[in-house]
Amino acid sequence: MASIYDPIKIGTMELPNRFVHAPTVRNNADEHGYLTERAIRDYLEGARGGWGLYQVSASFPHPEGNPFRCMVGIHDSQSVLGHQRVVRNFHLEGMKVSCQILHGGAICDPNMTGHPAVSATEKGSVYGIPCKALSTDEAEERAQMYVDAAARIQEAGYDAVNVHSCQGTLIQQFMSPYTNTRTDKFGEDRGLFPEMVAKGIKERCGQDYPVIWRLAAHEFMEYLGEPGYTEEWGKTIAQRLEPYVDCFDVTGGRIGFTAMYAFPSPYPERATRVHLATEIKSVVKVPVMGVAKIMDTKIAEDVVASGRCDLAMMCRPAIADPWFARKAIEGRPEDIRKCIACNVCLQCLWDQQYVNCAVNPTYGKEEQMELKPAIRPKKVMVIGGGVGGMETAITCAQRGHRVDLYEKDEELGGLLQHVASTHPRLNTRDLRNIVDYHIAQVEKTEGLTVHLETAVTAELVENENPDAVVVAVGSGEKLPEIPGIDLANVVTNEDYLRSEGEMEIGDTVVVIGGNYGAETAVSLARDGKNVTMVEESDTVNRPVYSVDLYARLFQLDGYVKDENITVLTETRAVEINGEGVVVENAEGRKTLPADSVIIAWGRQPRVECYEALKGKVKEIYKIGDCKEVRSVEWAIAEAANVSRQI
Ligand SMILES: Cc1cc2nc3c(=O)[nH]c(=O)nc-3n(C[C@H](O)[C@H](O)[C@H](O)COP(=O)(O)O)c2cc1C
Ligand code: SF4
Repeated sequence: MASIYDPIKIGTMELPNRFVHAPTVRNNADEHGYLTERAIRDYLEGARGGWGLYQVSASFPHPEGNPFRCMVGIHDSQSVLGHQRVVRNFHLEGMKVSCQILHGGAICDPNMTGHPAVSATEKGSVYGIPCKALSTDEAEERAQMYVDAAARIQEAGYDAVNVHSCQGTLIQQFMSPYTNTRTDKFGEDRGLFPEMVAKGIKERCGQDYPVIWRLAAHEFMEYLGEPGYTEEWGKTIAQRLEPYVDCFDVTGGRIGFTAMYAFPSPYPERATRVHLATEIKSVVKVPVMGVAKIMDTKIAEDVVASGRCDLAMMCRPAIADPWFARKAIEGRPEDIRKCIACNVCLQCLWDQQYVNCAVNPTYGKEEQMELKPAIRPKKVMVIGGGVGGMETAITCAQRGHRVDLYEKDEELGGLLQHVASTHPRLNTRDLRNIVDYHIAQVEKTEGLTVHLETAVTAELVENENPDAVVVAVGSGEKLPEIPGIDLANVVTNEDYLRSEGEMEIGDTVVVIGGNYGAETAVSLARDGKNVTMVEESDTVNRPVYSVDLYARLFQLDGYVKDENITVLTETRAVEINGEGVVVENAEGRKTLPADSVIIAWGRQPRVECYEALKGKVKEIYKIGDCKEVRSVEWAIAEAANVSRQI
């Protein structure tokens, strides 16, 4: 039985273990794709992270193929120079490193690249601008671009090249029956374009130069009722490419269409695309990497030990903790900051911003955020034991302050842990990852004392006489002022979440608030309840702890439809009475029958604590939801900043 801690060979390349860092665009190059000093430093953190193989960002082979502002390029001889410095840093650390070639084709924005978006046909654009369908000669030129870029990657000294033929980029546009309806040789044979690329790279770089092929083995286009290939064709193309490929790195889905299969949200099960790696592994002899939601060491160990794939690859888990592999190898998995699959990082890409992480506030800012010992150790009181409060307390204590962390409930973790436990059928349990990490760190951090079941009063603060106070008490439920809100069958979403779904709820439920309440609505519908969501705005399905990302919303939207939840948007609840909820919209008034009513109208900052202490202590800060209701990302980012200021 193989272990993830075992060495493995990819062609001629020997890896010390099977933890693989996925190629990860960070938008950290300059506007022309050249690696900046900052980008070169960015990779240092990963270079020390213990990975068997680190795969550097997708890099465009020509500016027309660049889908993101500030994505890395490998497009000319000047670009090679920056890559050489990256490689040197990895080799100094004794690490193996590869680089990926990505031509975006249809997913590029012509307004950004200054070139037309090119593709197999006019279809496939994500910007609503028809693509320029490449002629046969032009398609051959594009295949050659990959080969030339691979030669530059080899020249830069990388140990291997990775070819991006997934997530709906140019090669997949040629492989897909959705985008490739051509009538020339590339249309008659959808495998020809990838074969030209793979064969060309081997011929140019030599048989011994390792080629990793990043394959979308399934497009999942049936989700949209559009043509797409499935794993059967995925297996066929893998077999055809195998003579030119030393390893398959297997994923699925395509950007702009079925992105949720490529970048899964919290809802799909863990290790969710590894089944595709297993399919490919069943037909090839070369090693196969599995990816997607390999959230912790246990899953990573299991996917390899069970033989489902040969190597475990991580992208977002490696953003959340670039030292994931190293900590696993050192036997301290509790020290890994684990990803919650919230996709803040992915949203940064689409916003054309430098990539941030919701749970790792130092990602890409390691130098700027370096922890420096406090010049004058202080007595610090942190009020609120959610993730923001815990992050503050840990960081302050690590800097040498004496910290007391107060939580009014009987356990640390705030509302997030209850969301994690309430929706088992939505897999939100991975939201607990960050709570568990923080609790483990609170327990092992010296100079930090926890006070549970302790509500902080002005008197307590006066007696303790701290040098600094950080208020991190979060948000509370926002209640509409309507008659009937106090009736016995009315509960808040927070009540429901705190009961972790154990609360008695009637068969017919009205959820007032279709965004914050969407997950609760789906959970209840899956329990067999008849659910209606009433929402004043024109949108639904935007839970508050995360960003409004299309991949996630698409899915929640789908669940709401699948569960036959009635959705009333632009509708206001005006009264709750013995029969149900009286609502009003453009069509007039009506009563929705309800046995139970759940108020999920939104959250509001808890301001009382800060207001009561303001002016009474030397230094006072507020962070997270008690400042303004936003996602987990903000609570942790503000905690990280404030705890470095004190
Ligand atoms: C911020 C970000 C950048 C990514 N960059 C790349 C990339 O450069 N090349 C690539 O093939 N996939 C890229 N991906 C996709 C990941 O490699 C991976 O397949 C996907 O995120 C699912 O795996 P995970 O759950 O381990 O993140 C990126 C994903 C994210 C979130
Ligand atoms: S931003 Fe969210 S999804 Fe991305 S790495 Fe961080 S925790 Fe994971």
